Amino acid sequence: MTTATFNFKPLSLSFSQDPYEVYRQLREADEPFYFADVDMWLLSRYEDVSIIATNPKMVRSLAEHESRPEAEARQRRANWHEMPFHERVVQFSLLDSDGDIHRRLRKQIFGEFTARAVSTLEPVVQKFVDDLIDSLDDHDQIDFIEDFAAHVPGFVIGHLLGVPAEHSEQLRLWSEQVVQYFGLDRSWERKQIAETATREFFEYLIELKAERTKSPKDDLISKMIVDEANGLYSEDEFISTCMLILMAGHGSTIDVLGSGMHTLLKYPDALQRLRDETSLIPNAIQEMFRFEPPLPFFHRHALDETTIRGQLYPAGTTFGLLYGAANRDPEKFDAPDTFDVERTPNRHLSFGLGAHLCLGNNLARLNMKIIFETLLRRFSHFELADADVVYKRGLSVRGAEKLNIAWKRK
Ligand code: HEM
Repeated sequence: MTTATFNFKPLSLSFSQDPYEVYRQLREADEPFYFADVDMWLLSRYEDVSIIATNPKMVRSLAEHESRPEAEARQRRANWHEMPFHERVVQFSLLDSDGDIHRRLRKQIFGEFTARAVSTLEPVVQKFVDDLIDSLDDHDQIDFIEDFAAHVPGFVIGHLLGVPAEHSEQLRLWSEQVVQYFGLDRSWERKQIAETATREFFEYLIELKAERTKSPKDDLISKMIVDEANGLYSEDEFISTCMLILMAGHGSTIDVLGSGMHTLLKYPDALQRLRDETSLIPNAIQEMFRFEPPLPFFHRHALDETTIRGQLYPAGTTFGLLYGAANRDPEKFDAPDTFDVERTPNRHLSFGLGAHLCLGNNLARLNMKIIFETLLRRFSHFELADADVVYKRGLSVRGAEKLNIAWKRK
């Protein structure tokens, strides 16, 4: 099959309810699919996605490789222009830089995100999760997304960076309002919301930085202040790094918690297996990430011409990496549409691959492990209270809008 006539509608309800059938058709086609709406070739096979993600000539940002007028024309095409704060600290970041700048920015914070470093957060996360469950003591039914998952990442990532706990709910609002603009809908209304949230977030972080400069604490922002004083960051790089850390893991953590829970409820045998053998939980978490990646789509621009499956693509081509489709590739995973808590090996691409591999992957896994272990320890029963679970529309994120569950304490 060729993909020339393929009816690709990633904003449709049918895509959000089951993107995996569409991903299958894309994978089985003879060639990558040209997505004209965003001038991008979509790659869906594990091998193609991996080759592009690990190629140093495939970059996240063209800013270093184009003239000012070219950059402005590109920003206009994407409706990314006339957003002064967004341009300064969101459109440029560690995630959206490459080569030496990317290596320098990534190196400054890499040590804070190793498995060993994040394991020191375990007691803090555990206490937060226990308190959160206690606070829901009189609820037999909750929206697992709003009442539970949504509270976790703001607190945990905020704690790591040094944001006071009482501000963590505000972090979620800013994150959502900024991140929504990475989706396919780039209307002027959404643009205003994204720019205003970026400005407020910027001003908040400048204030927090001033406070920590006066009275440093044992947190990442205080360490970054020392690094900036030593010339390792500019002020905009400092703010964009703080913002990226607070945003990159925010919606993704909420979404994967929700779809992880939803998946367990759809596969009661798997849930029972985890009750019988709790040591399988870390493996099951890996499988939750493979099965329902919360960030299933990223892009790369080609600096040189490149060949994929015998077809030549010129320098300047943009590729869409469908991590969510690659994770279900039968060439890589046996029975890829089966949720298998014992799957091993499980080299899914939900955290990407190559230079931009997710910095927060150990933290994301730790949160999930603590949460699912605690839920299984403290509750004897979970069930869907409303079987009609609606997933968010779009290509860039995957997560349930609501997940009403009933639960019974032990
Ligand atoms: C919860 C699930 C998460 C998923 C599925 C996820 C996924 C990803 C993916 C796929 C990328 C690579 C983007 C690309 O290929 O272009 C990435 C990058 C990144 N993630 Fe995550 N992420 C998660 C959580 C987190 C958390 C908790 C943090 C931090 C607290 C975080 C921080 C970052 C950063 C800083 C980058 C940029 C790395 C770079 O460009 O070098 N992520 N993430």
